[in-house]
Amino acid sequence: MSQNVMVTGAGKKVGLGFNLVLRYLERGDTVVATVHKMNDGLAELQKTYKDKLIVLTMDIKDSKSVEAAAAELRNKIDHLDLIVNNAVSVSPDCDKGFFDANLDYIARTVDITAVGAMRVIKAFFPLLKKSGMTALIMNISSEAGSISKCYRTAQIDYGMAKAALNMATMNIWNTIKDEHKVNIFCVHPGWIRTDGREDNPAPLSSYEAAGILQELFESRREDFEGHRFITNEGEDYPF
Ligand SMILES: NC(=O)c1ccc[n+]([C@@H]2O[C@H](COP(=O)([O-])OP(=O)(O)OC[C@H]3O[C@@H](n4cnc5c(N)ncnc54)[C@H](OP(=O)(O)O)[C@@H]3O)[C@@H](O)[C@H]2O)c1
Repeated sequence: MSQNVMVTGAGKKVGLGFNLVLRYLERGDTVVATVHKMNDGLAELQKTYKDKLIVLTMDIKDSKSVEAAAAELRNKIDHLDLIVNNAVSVSPDCDKGFFDANLDYIARTVDITAVGAMRVIKAFFPLLKKSGMTALIMNISSEAGSISKCYRTAQIDYGMAKAALNMATMNIWNTIKDEHKVNIFCVHPGWIRTDGREDNPAPLSSYEAAGILQELFESRREDFEGHRFITNEGEDYPF
């Protein structure tokens, strides 16, 4: 059955978001790709997939921008079956350790990566509720967001943002779970060559990772019992 799918942060051709968009288009779904601004990669896809691809522009740091994008989408489609919160942003000091990083950068990373996903869920929730199936929210998290497994001394902003996204996932889950109408998970998507570089040792291309996630998402759509933080291999991951 074809779906209406929305993926945030879909602008980078070698990135996970763009490749999720491509995978769902290849499956015959209607796909909403959200970006900061339109780019050549999505313009190319639009030539092939025409009105099956809707490109929405929004800044997830700004509630008004997200609400305006949701209003625009309500004029184009009547429901959503899946939202993938994929957008992320890290600070210029991401690779520095605690004593060297400018701590004033951290709030912006958390605001975009965690609160941004929350803004998206809130604004687009009415469209999810109109799905004819159990609608699904998949928050792309990271093993870096696990507090209990934390081993890093750098990437503080990134880890904090993903941990915050995980907390948001649990809070929203508690809010919506009893209705059994919309389901939600946070997902570690695997180690992926999202920079598109051949010398990147990560085992998965973004296109491969997107295919694996696509299957995982469908396998969890009706799962209202299991752990909320899962890996691309379908395993539970500790918060
Ligand atoms: N690569 C891995 O091995 C790995 C591992 C674990 C988790 N992940 C997760 O997988 C996801 C995809 O990774 P990626 O490298 O493909 O992501 P990415 O390209 O770095 O980020 C995705 C998009 O987020 C958008 N974005 C940033 N700030 C935004 C804002 N304020 N409003 C709207 N969009 C904004 C960016 O758009 P602009 O370019 O226009 O700013 C960017 O295209 C991320 O959530 C990442 O944390 C990756």
